[in-house]
Amino acid sequence: MKEKLWGGRFKEALDSLVFDFTKSIEYDWFLFEYEAYSNIAWVEELNRLKLITSSEAKKLVKSIKELLEDYFKGKAKIDFKEEDIHSLFYKLLRKKAGDLTDKIHAGKSRNEQVVTVMRMFLKDALLETGELVKNLQKSMLKKAMIYAGVVIPGFTHLQYAQPVLFAHWMLSFVTQLERDKQRLNDCFTRVDILPLGSGALSGSNFNIDRERIKQDLSFASIGSNSMDMVSDRDFILEYLNCNLMLLLHLSRMAEDLIIYNSPGYGFIDFGDKVTTGSSLMPHKKNPDPVELIRSSVAEALSSYTFLTNVLKGLPTTYNRDLQLDKKPLFASYLLTIRVLDVARIVISQMFVNKKRASELLCDERFYLTDISEELIKQGLSWKEAHTKVGELIKYAESNHQAINKLDKSVIKNILSRDIKINEYLNADKSVNRKLTTGSTNKKYVGREIKKWQRILES
Ligand code: ARG
Repeated sequence: MKEKLWGGRFKEALDSLVFDFTKSIEYDWFLFEYEAYSNIAWVEELNRLKLITSSEAKKLVKSIKELLEDYFKGKAKIDFKEEDIHSLFYKLLRKKAGDLTDKIHAGKSRNEQVVTVMRMFLKDALLETGELVKNLQKSMLKKAMIYAGVVIPGFTHLQYAQPVLFAHWMLSFVTQLERDKQRLNDCFTRVDILPLGSGALSGSNFNIDRERIKQDLSFASIGSNSMDMVSDRDFILEYLNCNLMLLLHLSRMAEDLIIYNSPGYGFIDFGDKVTTGSSLMPHKKNPDPVELIRSSVAEALSSYTFLTNVLKGLPTTYNRDLQLDKKPLFASYLLTIRVLDVARIVISQMFVNKKRASELLCDERFYLTDISEELIKQGLSWKEAHTKVGELIKYAESNHQAINKLDKSVIKNILSRDIKINEYLNADKSVNRKLTTGSTNKKYVGREIKKWQRILES
């Protein structure tokens, strides 16, 4: 038992099945790099406290750096028989630095160590996720610019509603992703706190210079309560929530794309790079990758609920249950960065079928709201206008005729105003009738494109 980080008081080894059950090395080896950096900072501190000499510190730091190099070259053997990353690291370092390694854990608990390295990992993960969100936004913006003037059908309840610019639809997701990016940035500030110096729960008996370690490890601030530091995992839950919301946005976008690509709609096409075939039906070209984006939020949600359930009712400070926090953290991280990359490729391989969009936009129902609002502008009450336009479509439908084929006098009679109907049955004119900022009017969408260019290119 001596080789364990905690073996002294035990006569017998842990049952092998039980040991396997308690291990976390299968997933926490992911923290190797951060374990190394934090140990370098700790060695410097032990030297400052005169618990090791300067030459011992030098030797240890050199060995840790060699170990890191081995790891980056894929030469550090991750031994999955070890208990966790901290035990593995200790073992590997011992091979390089010998007995000197026995001094390295002085004044430090794994309870504070594990949250320190997780916070370090998460800071990098947050920056990486934010960068990938930005790349996705850029590819969306590019598409919005390519199809800047193209009008597509807009839906509510999946029923024909009003025409909108394709760019307006695309930028709605750029806008949502911007909030997701802001959430990741906000989360960063709450992750960027140093736990080291918290000990197992009550602090350290050594006069640790936390300010120096904070600077060494590039943390923005120092944890102000040792019990809170070893106890809480809110910073992970917050990250899982950021990913959840991000993937929720992409899921809804994916659903739009799948619908718009389906034969009944057909105004979005996908390139071969993002579609798959059927083993039975030779004609098939399915948007499988987009469907998997749609569902990835299910995985993100299970990570979120998993950790919530682990934390619920858990006594404060460290309990071994907390070891499981890494599973949802890594799962959600890997999932999210993958989906972001794939979504970027999907967007670059997505094309607007303008001909099909204008065919759908021939449906007169898209323009009836414009006609109703024109009547209001001409003095009718909302109720009168709404009812009269309702009567017009009812009349046309029951006579199996298009409105623009009806006799002018019939239209005038129903609407009680002389409206030039054909002026209204036009997609381009319809979008430009919108007068509010934030609307689908080409003028405002053009300004939005410029705004996003400025933001995303800075
Ligand atoms: N593998 C453990 C974890 O991930 C490290 C901390 C162990 N601490 C303890 N007191 N058993 O949480």
